[in-house]
Amino acid sequence: MVAFIISVRKISFVNEKGGSGKTTLTINIGAYIASRGKKVLILDMDPQGHIGKSLGLDVKKIDDTIFDALVNEDLKLTDVIRKTSLKNLDIAPSNKFLTDFVINVASHEDRHLKLTKKIDQLNGYDYLLIDCPPSLGLLTVNILLAVTEVIIPVSLTFLALDGCAEIVDTVRTIKRNFAKNDLDITMVVPTFYRNTNMANAILEKLRTYFGNRVSDTIIKFDVKIDQSQSFGKTIYEFAPDSTGAKMMGELAKEVMAIGEGRLKPN
Ligand SMILES: Nc1ncnc2c1ncn2[C@@H]1O[C@H](COP(=O)(O)OP(=O)(O)OP(=O)(O)O)[C@@H](O)[C@H]1O
Ligand SMILES: [Mg+2]
Repeated sequence: MVAFIISVRKISFVNEKGGSGKTTLTINIGAYIASRGKKVLILDMDPQGHIGKSLGLDVKKIDDTIFDALVNEDLKLTDVIRKTSLKNLDIAPSNKFLTDFVINVASHEDRHLKLTKKIDQLNGYDYLLIDCPPSLGLLTVNILLAVTEVIIPVSLTFLALDGCAEIVDTVRTIKRNFAKNDLDITMVVPTFYRNTNMANAILEKLRTYFGNRVSDTIIKFDVKIDQSQSFGKTIYEFAPDSTGAKMMGELAKEVMAIGEGRLKPN
């Protein structure tokens, strides 16, 4: 008998620096991968609730969010997961109540593993994509313990490298303190690229430090991307022929290729 091992990719989009493109990449990469026939779940671990908002959901009005599943032993993630208008793409939305997570679980011994435990109950997905908050607190520790891959979107602006160094440190600390040996930074994605001396210099530094882990696709500014979110749509629904849609598609293919054994060398 042939045994098939079905492994789910667990990918987090992390950068403590706000506005670096985490949510935009999570949604559009998720939508692209779903359109290739893979089952995708996006988990919104940011109290800003931007995943739901970007997909046209009024997150303020949702009763059961990822917060409820995390703090309630009796709730499963499947109880808060919603289908989207896109085939194969589901989301576990959040809203501002997720800020209460830290205080809610402060005295629990397993507070770092709340998300891991809930994810372990899931099946049927090929990809779990997690959108992170712009901070490195307990929510992010939960995320880093629950995933195996970290993708860092880096906006090519002044101070961007500071944020990167923080994440590298945090990943190292998590690996060491929690013996989480299967966690790696698998991709660094330059975002908001403009052809300026400063952007090119930052890009060069990223390539020197992260080598091949810097994605071949560089995400440029495209107003259609911003507009698509304001209309509650993915870039493929809003402007399928735009530069933004092409860039996101190329990047999503690179992300899928990591899983096909083409892990970029460190
Ligand atoms: N390539 C792009 N071109 C134009 N606008 C973009 C692009 N990428 C992202 N944006 C816009 O920039 C803003 C910030 O992006 P996004 O929300 O993805 O960042 P974030 O890292 O998730 O932010 P936060 O840290 O607040 O969660 C959004 O309004 C988004 O629509
Ligand atoms: Mg965001």
